[in-house]
Amino acid sequence: MRAVVTGAAGFIGSHLCELLLSHGDEVVGIDAVTTFYDPARKHRNLAPLLGRDGFAFHHGDLLRTPLEPLFATADAVYHLAGQPGVRGSWGTEFALYLERNVLVTQRVLEAARDTRLPRLVFASSSSVYGDAETYPTPETVRPRPVSPYGVTKLAAEQLCETYRTVFGVPTVSLRLFSVYGPRQRPDMAFSRLITATCAGRPFPLYGDGGQSRDFTYVGDVVAAMRASALSGWTGVANLGGGCEVTMNQAVALLSELGAPVRVIPGGPRPGDARRTAADITLARRAFGYRPVTDLRAGLAAMVRAVTAPPAVPRDSRLNRSEV
Ligand SMILES: NC(=O)c1ccc[n+]([C@@H]2O[C@H](COP(=O)([O-])OP(=O)(O)OC[C@H]3O[C@@H](n4cnc5c(N)ncnc54)[C@H](O)[C@@H]3O)[C@@H](O)[C@H]2O)c1
Repeated sequence: MRAVVTGAAGFIGSHLCELLLSHGDEVVGIDAVTTFYDPARKHRNLAPLLGRDGFAFHHGDLLRTPLEPLFATADAVYHLAGQPGVRGSWGTEFALYLERNVLVTQRVLEAARDTRLPRLVFASSSSVYGDAETYPTPETVRPRPVSPYGVTKLAAEQLCETYRTVFGVPTVSLRLFSVYGPRQRPDMAFSRLITATCAGRPFPLYGDGGQSRDFTYVGDVVAAMRASALSGWTGVANLGGGCEVTMNQAVALLSELGAPVRVIPGGPRPGDARRTAADITLARRAFGYRPVTDLRAGLAAMVRAVTAPPAVPRDSRLNRSEV
């Protein structure tokens, strides 16, 4: 397959590029390398990809880059670029969320329609549910986000549905539930937990620790993205890890894994749902989704990646494979 991955320098995007290349797919990655977190981390995510056969990188903003030439020969576009994070999406930052999540997605959809793209996979979010009416939550439950970020992901997902219904753009929107694994974004809970522990610093735990998440390993997520693109199925589906764990339980598990955590109270943050838990029946039926990495194995992989990071090839410069 010839694939385009937007957000290729990010946490999930870089894992997806690796997976696609391992299947022999040709990949064009696009990323603006935004400063939402340290761009050096994104350059490190890209480094092992640059120079690999079948990979090309385009450094650019999706709001301004001509997309049709990039999409014209693609079999699938995986649209992961966006402005993530619930807590920072209030106040004046909302404009950035609107731009990067909604306006960019509409531009991607226009290009997909104009080039008759065979498949568009969009990274939506469990944040669209907010405090859901039922758990585990099926896709049929009415979304009611509790953060502006969730509102923008819902709007982008609805745009995908609109272009699918009106113009027949074959879109798949995957509602990702708390993705974790090596190279996780530094603002996310496990990343902050492991970094604090390795540095011998206390970890400020938001809320009482009883808030729970359906944590999903990044390897399972990117495998599902490719499977959904190959399946021919279109629509909206949950991608959860299949087990709901409280933050207190995750902290205890990390201690068992040899990364003891010293917790200090951090106070609750507006925008965080109390619970998330995915009903993954639809994804299983539609494209055979079956998460295989449990939390113990996934957290152990994260700890290993921080304590013994893989060596980066010295000649991997950002512009080596640019198109
Ligand atoms: N990580 C999670 O748990 C999670 C959960 C639900 C949904 N998602 C969604 O998955 C996607 C990837 O998340 P992530 O955790 O890898 O985030 P990330 O921030 O690591 O990756 C996003 C990438 O998109 C790029 N980008 C942003 N705006 C751009 C633009 N206008 N043009 C080009 N590139 C741009 C950024 O530079 C970044 O490298 C996001 O859309 C996010 O909303 C993530």
